[in-house]
Amino acid sequence: MKKQPGWALPSLKEAQVRTHKQSQIEKGLFEIPTEAKLLGQGKRYYLRTYGCQANQRDSETLAGIMEALCFTPCEDAEQADVILLNTCAIRKNAEDKVLGELGQLKRLKKENPDLVIGICGCMSQEEAIIDTLLTHYRHVELIFGTHNLHRLPILLYQVMTTHKKVIEVYSKEGEVIENLPVIRFDSHKAWVNIMYGCDKFCTYCIVPYTRGKERSRMMEDILEEVRTLKAQGFHEITLLGQNVNAYGKDLGLAGGFAKLLAEVAQIGIARVRFMTSHPWDFTDEMIDVIARYDNIMPFIHLPVQSGDSDILKLMGRRYTIEEYKKLYDKITSNIKNCAFSTDIIVGFPNESEAQFQHTLDIVDYCKFDNAFTFIYSPREGTPAAKMADNVPLAVKQERLQRLNEKTNYYTHMQNEKYRGKIVTVLVDGFSKKNDQVYSGHTDTNKLVNFIGKDVKAGDFVEVEITDVKTWSLDGKQV
Ligand code: 5AD
Ligand code: SF4
Repeated sequence: MKKQPGWALPSLKEAQVRTHKQSQIEKGLFEIPTEAKLLGQGKRYYLRTYGCQANQRDSETLAGIMEALCFTPCEDAEQADVILLNTCAIRKNAEDKVLGELGQLKRLKKENPDLVIGICGCMSQEEAIIDTLLTHYRHVELIFGTHNLHRLPILLYQVMTTHKKVIEVYSKEGEVIENLPVIRFDSHKAWVNIMYGCDKFCTYCIVPYTRGKERSRMMEDILEEVRTLKAQGFHEITLLGQNVNAYGKDLGLAGGFAKLLAEVAQIGIARVRFMTSHPWDFTDEMIDVIARYDNIMPFIHLPVQSGDSDILKLMGRRYTIEEYKKLYDKITSNIKNCAFSTDIIVGFPNESEAQFQHTLDIVDYCKFDNAFTFIYSPREGTPAAKMADNVPLAVKQERLQRLNEKTNYYTHMQNEKYRGKIVTVLVDGFSKKNDQVYSGHTDTNKLVNFIGKDVKAGDFVEVEITDVKTWSLDGKQV
């Protein structure tokens, strides 16, 4: 399909540009034009979210906007008038999932030509994906990106009134946009963005291109949001950023993330979490603050990616494996019972068997409570995608399997520590698999399924752990 005038198309090349300009804080960008105010009256929307917590939080904004336009949510795409897929581009298999779903949706568009199918999120930011959508997925009529969620009312109005394709994706550093509507998907725990984007440019990663420059929200805006959440009865918040350690650097804010974390803890919400922390630049002040406040949870997601310093260098990770170990030791000796999760990539270009062994070694050293493990997936436009690679896929798959055996062993082993213990669980509701039992999480983020009486989501319950599995603990209310 020929590109149309009026479309704004992405460029990964432009998306990597970084200037020293401070990002604008925009408080008045969101508006609903008069003619669009009742756009969704009597109409339903279906929203599906792929990928990380940043996307989950963005989806809460998308839901907020849709409901401000008078749309009603629905759980079934078959019944929707508007379908929005908030997509993830981190690995090829994440993209394939979305394209698979889009293939399925073709039939619905055929049956109901008024149906609007929209794509947003990280995949929209890639020019190759736009080409694919234009040639093979012509039933997609609306495409917008990560920088312009606030434009949804206008863009959707255009599509619904003209049924002409609307594409508006910006490749820019981005601003901080405040005051967007939000529908929180949980009643007792909430995501709170503290910053957007990423400037780390790890050589394998597409995020700095799809999400723009590292830019922090003003501390007072974050604290106000947390105070509001507390007043609304939320018991847990998770401070979100691609690398929370960098919080405040762009604002020249003294104390940065450690200061923010302490201020948030003082508001007195019962549980404060944060993610993700890059091992580089994880300061002693941060460790002090986490150790000092009982309501900051002793759980740290600390992606290691590889156990080999040469691979880490090629990945552009800014630390050696010795430095990672030192940080891990410092955290464990200062924060009581701290649990760790991590991310690991196997099969980075030309990873040797000996280098992979180093990854197994770091797992033996840290005994992670949880590990998210991935086979390296080349992302067009990133430096690693240009690196030659002579490791066959079968070898990568075999390494992933060996790695998973080890990480699962330690996950189970760490869970064993809880057998017979009494833990405090923040209840999420009934277990997803069995509505005879409740489920929730410990301070260390362990999933607990338990038998209890008259318990509801948002309660704190003391639970005795009676059995231990790899992915969960079983128990009974005491
Ligand atoms: N291939 C495989 N895994 C990746 N990740 C990021 N980019 C890639 C890629 N190209 C993983 C990293 C990161 C997590 C969110 O996803 O481990 O920490
Ligand atoms: Fe990607 Fe690295 Fe930024 Fe994490 S820190 S989002 S892995 S570039």
